[in-house]
Amino acid sequence: MLSKKQIKLDEQETPEEQILFTSLRVSDWTGFLGQKQVKESLHIAIDAAKKRKEAIEHILLYGPPGLGKTTLSHLVAKQMGANIRVTSGPAIERAGDLASILTNLEKGDILFIDEIHRLNKVVEETLYPAMEDYALDIILGKGPSARTLRLELPQFTIIGATTRIGLMSAPLRDRFGVVHRLSFYDPKDLETIIENAAKKLKVSIDKESVRQIAKRARGTPRISLKLLKRARDFAQVRGEGKITSELVKEALAMLEVDSMGLDSSDRRFLKAIIDKHAGGPVGLETIGSTISEDIGTIEEVIEPYLLQIGFVKRTPRGRVATPVAYEHLGKTPPKSSPQQKLI
Ligand SMILES: Nc1ncnc2c1ncn2[C@@H]1O[C@H](COP(=O)(O)OP(=O)(O)OP(=O)(O)O)[C@@H](O)[C@H]1O
Ligand SMILES: [Mg+2]
Repeated sequence: MLSKKQIKLDEQETPEEQILFTSLRVSDWTGFLGQKQVKESLHIAIDAAKKRKEAIEHILLYGPPGLGKTTLSHLVAKQMGANIRVTSGPAIERAGDLASILTNLEKGDILFIDEIHRLNKVVEETLYPAMEDYALDIILGKGPSARTLRLELPQFTIIGATTRIGLMSAPLRDRFGVVHRLSFYDPKDLETIIENAAKKLKVSIDKESVRQIAKRARGTPRISLKLLKRARDFAQVRGEGKITSELVKEALAMLEVDSMGLDSSDRRFLKAIIDKHAGGPVGLETIGSTISEDIGTIEEVIEPYLLQIGFVKRTPRGRVATPVAYEHLGKTPPKSSPQQKLI
């Protein structure tokens, strides 16, 4: 089953786009912009591991989709000179699946587990001793005569990635030595990401267009690349192959992306709080059923950026739309704003 976040972000992703994203994937540290602290801390962990000639500590990367978790994992593997095996939480169905992956690893290998919050309980429990003691406890037989056999594993590293750290159990989280949250990017970093990608795509783009795309990319590299790609299509079909701010505007309008980078789902979410629930506070489940949207998608994809730009607030009684959200939608905020009601 596809995770909901993929459904929203990738809904218009054609196979051609998937190839495009793969070809634009950053393959060295200099091309990986922003996330300064995360990069520094990873470099220290990498250098330390190399000095000790050991596998790097287990790493957990979390944060909204499209911010670079997968890319960073590959960069870590590359710098460690390690093989990376890629799997995902839902793909490992049974403890036996995990055992066969782990027993095939070599010393220093990296196992990348995407959507690690979706590992099932039994698999997760099998993973504990593997992460802690590089050992697998295999249960032979059933009932009172069952015996446990301990299998030694080579030293390896798990890099886990998740958009929903809140759904991970504490024991699993605690087994990662290095834990990092990726944050949204500054427009400046996004501008460089867009310029670099335009060079790779061999398309010419002016500074103003770069700025416009960066401003509307919700702080997310993947969205920047997607908008760039759409603008390039427009440039090829309507223009002379050069991306101009006029063409960017047309592309954004077609994608229904507004001046703050919000798309139709974001606006539907805000309108539900404002129009249907008097600006809140309103519970997530109620909003979800108002707009027929999955709660996971709201929490993972829609809300983080709206929280970041201060359009929505989380309160103990539910979500509240702030006066700036009203203004953005061309509505008048109520005199006693919902936040004031709370105080
Ligand atoms: N810091 C960065 N600098 C340049 N490009 C980046 C950066 N971070 C991500 N990208 C680009 O953005 C795209 C999405 O990144 P990536 O797939 O690593 O995100 P993710 O966090 O794994 O997303 P998801 O949660 O959906 O799996 C890739 O094409 C990648 O090259
Ligand atoms: Mg990823």
